[in-house]
Amino acid sequence: MGTENRTKPLEPGKMPGQETISLITICADEDFAGRLRRFVAVGNVAQIRAELQHYLSGESDAGLIEQLNQKRPDVCIIDMDRDREAAIRTAERIRDTLTETVLMAASSDSKPDLILQAMRAGCTEFLVKPVTRDQLLEALARTSGRKKEPHETLNGQILAMMGAKGGAGVTCLAIHLGGLLAQRHGRKTLLIDLHPNLGDVALYLRQDRHPYSFYDLSENTHRLDGDLLQGFLVRHPSGMDILPAPEGIEPSRHVSGEAVKRTLQFLRQSYQFILLDCPTGLADVNTAALDEADNLYLVTTSEVPAVKNVARYADYLSHFSYPIERMRVVINRYSKGDAISEAQIEKTLRRPIFWKVPNQYREVIKVINTGSPLDLGSTSEFMRSMMGWADALAGKPVAAKKESKSFRRLLGG
Ligand SMILES: Nc1ncnc2c1ncn2[C@@H]1O[C@H](COP(=O)(O)OP(=O)(O)O)[C@@H](O)[C@H]1O
Ligand SMILES: [Mg+2]
Repeated sequence: MGTENRTKPLEPGKMPGQETISLITICADEDFAGRLRRFVAVGNVAQIRAELQHYLSGESDAGLIEQLNQKRPDVCIIDMDRDREAAIRTAERIRDTLTETVLMAASSDSKPDLILQAMRAGCTEFLVKPVTRDQLLEALARTSGRKKEPHETLNGQILAMMGAKGGAGVTCLAIHLGGLLAQRHGRKTLLIDLHPNLGDVALYLRQDRHPYSFYDLSENTHRLDGDLLQGFLVRHPSGMDILPAPEGIEPSRHVSGEAVKRTLQFLRQSYQFILLDCPTGLADVNTAALDEADNLYLVTTSEVPAVKNVARYADYLSHFSYPIERMRVVINRYSKGDAISEAQIEKTLRRPIFWKVPNQYREVIKVINTGSPLDLGSTSEFMRSMMGWADALAGKPVAAKKESKSFRRLLGG
């Protein structure tokens, strides 16, 4: 145990009248410990309250935990490099017992699996060694920001989008609608890819290197807060945030319906619009998401099997007391010459069509294939239809006339 504050008696862990952050460190290697000591020696940002030389190992450390608890540390930094397994167990223990303490991991290894493991164990910051003064300052600033500034509660709308069959165009519509809500309307928008694997959102938006998915976030619901959330998100240049599907063809991830609901309820507080790119079908994750969603956009093409599937979904959902007025039918790839007319579809479904998006294969495929995956500046029929849909949700944007140029500039077009 190390450096103690000798200016007591005062509230443990706090300097008089100052916002000094109290730190404890666990197994910091010599270089890192030295850097930390030099860091606290300058200015009054932080103070080291204890330097533990071993990881916590089970019940025998109960007394030690109690001692640490009494110091009320604002931050505990765990060096992961001496024994990774023990470090992770220690983080979990501290997460569960020192609930007010912000946990940070430090390591010279920054592989995504280690970062993810550390986050799952409760660490909200990951410091890559050799840790610089600026890195420490930034991490600690985020810590104090977390305590002082409560996040604005937005209570946004959750809009689930699901295909009546695969390939109906859900991902295309979701990325455009989300991009427009964020950029054209300036709304806080999140797009979640709910596919347990092989989701297309990140692929279509060229965001293919992302360590976390909605599934990772859902596994961490017990300690969700606005700052932790930031670490999970991918930010698109349109301003939309993205929670992609798990990367690669890994085995399907499972998460309980309860965890999905909790996660969406939490996310709802931070956004005005949350769009869900749902896999087709009614697996647990989807039904939980539909329960939370304000609307379900069921996307179909005007082909007989797809339209029949819309009718099947509607029957199935009403059978389970789903408020069917929440369901809205969207016809994608619509064209006037389609074999089945709009009126025939409405008659078959006994409900109105909410939106029609024109068939513009060349335009859409260009968007998907080019380096500029979301051309919000386009004035194509497809984009006009998507703008109309976004306007129906968010109202007409102010200064709509000038937007197309600025969109292009932002997207490098
Ligand atoms: N309005 C549209 N006009 C023309 N082609 C479209 C349209 N919407 C989607 N597509 C095409 O349909 C294919 C499937 O779209 P995608 O969004 O991946 O479907 P889903 O997510 O439902 O499986 C893509 O090749 C896309 O280019
Ligand atoms: Mg898709």
